[in-house]
Amino acid sequence: MSDTIILGIESSCDETAVAMVRSDTEVLANVVATQIDVHKDFGGVVPEVASRIHVENISMVLAEALQNAHLSVADVDAIAVTQGPGLIGSLHVGVQAAKTLAWAFRKPLVPVHHIAGHIYANALVTKLEFPLLALVVSGGHTELVYMPDEWQFTILGTTQDDAIGEAGDKVGRVLNLPYPGGVYVDRLAKEGKACYPLATPKTERELDFSFSGLKSSVLQFIARCERRNETFEPADLACSYQECALRELFTPTRIALCQYQPKMMVLAGGVAANSRLREMVEQDLCNEFPDIRFVVPPLSCCTDNAAMIAVAGSIAYRHGVRADFSLSADPGFELTSSIL
Ligand code: KG4
Ligand code: ZN
Repeated sequence: MSDTIILGIESSCDETAVAMVRSDTEVLANVVATQIDVHKDFGGVVPEVASRIHVENISMVLAEALQNAHLSVADVDAIAVTQGPGLIGSLHVGVQAAKTLAWAFRKPLVPVHHIAGHIYANALVTKLEFPLLALVVSGGHTELVYMPDEWQFTILGTTQDDAIGEAGDKVGRVLNLPYPGGVYVDRLAKEGKACYPLATPKTERELDFSFSGLKSSVLQFIARCERRNETFEPADLACSYQECALRELFTPTRIALCQYQPKMMVLAGGVAANSRLREMVEQDLCNEFPDIRFVVPPLSCCTDNAAMIAVAGSIAYRHGVRADFSLSADPGFELTSSIL
């Protein structure tokens, strides 16, 4: 079992990716074809365009991954694929490719939740210790996930409206920054001060998040300046937004750390690349909770890739997770449904 080789496929949004891992975390190949250059002209991902490009790319990405690993599909033990959540058309391409390979080569098919993949990306750099708390921050998710043990997921809190990545991308757009906005807001914020007052909404549950009120507050601030013919400093607005968004993120996180006392906390998802967020975890949380090990994944593990799906797929395979050929893409796939 320890030599198990898993082929992972990821196509939930705008990255077509194929990877292979051996013994859970030894990466044999990890190929990602990103579509960012196409979508940035539209200021966001265009779902129909994304699925068409996945169709064009999937065979080439698969061939390159197999070539890099010096393997054939016949050599792998199972095919893992992101079943959801994500864009239906994009997911569909990966799921169909996985089903085709599983059928042609008579391999088991392992459905993987995209967020389980983001969490298990951390296993590529360290041995995960349980109980574990994951702060999941991506374009589509903001969640606190508690894992009492391997492959057990409990969602403690989630966003009541926008995901933090989505809000950052929108703020980037109104500041006329390129796509994906969150990346450029992060860069611009470094040159500014958090001097503009912005509203942060209250959530009913203490472990939930909310970002739409903050996002609206940025839009209203800009509209008010325009109405009054006043100028504002974009770097200061980016910094003010980012500090408020991170405060909103850290309040429930601190409560969950106190309540659940995990052995380890990991960051997961694209927004984990945010420099200020990484600094706040590495400095503030590490000092406040000296008994907890904090893992900040390298940038290459934060954004969408298939190595994370192959790692999660390898763990899921060991736990007996399987799908038959009726498997279909599930844009609303729930993480808890991954529990066996
Ligand atoms: O995990 P991911 O690649 O895709 C989803 O599953 O959604 O995350 C993409 C998100 C985008 O919203 C992007 O703006 C954000 O991650 N992101 C960042 C940074 N790098 C990527 N947000 C803030 N600061 C960054 N440095
Ligand atoms: Zn993602």
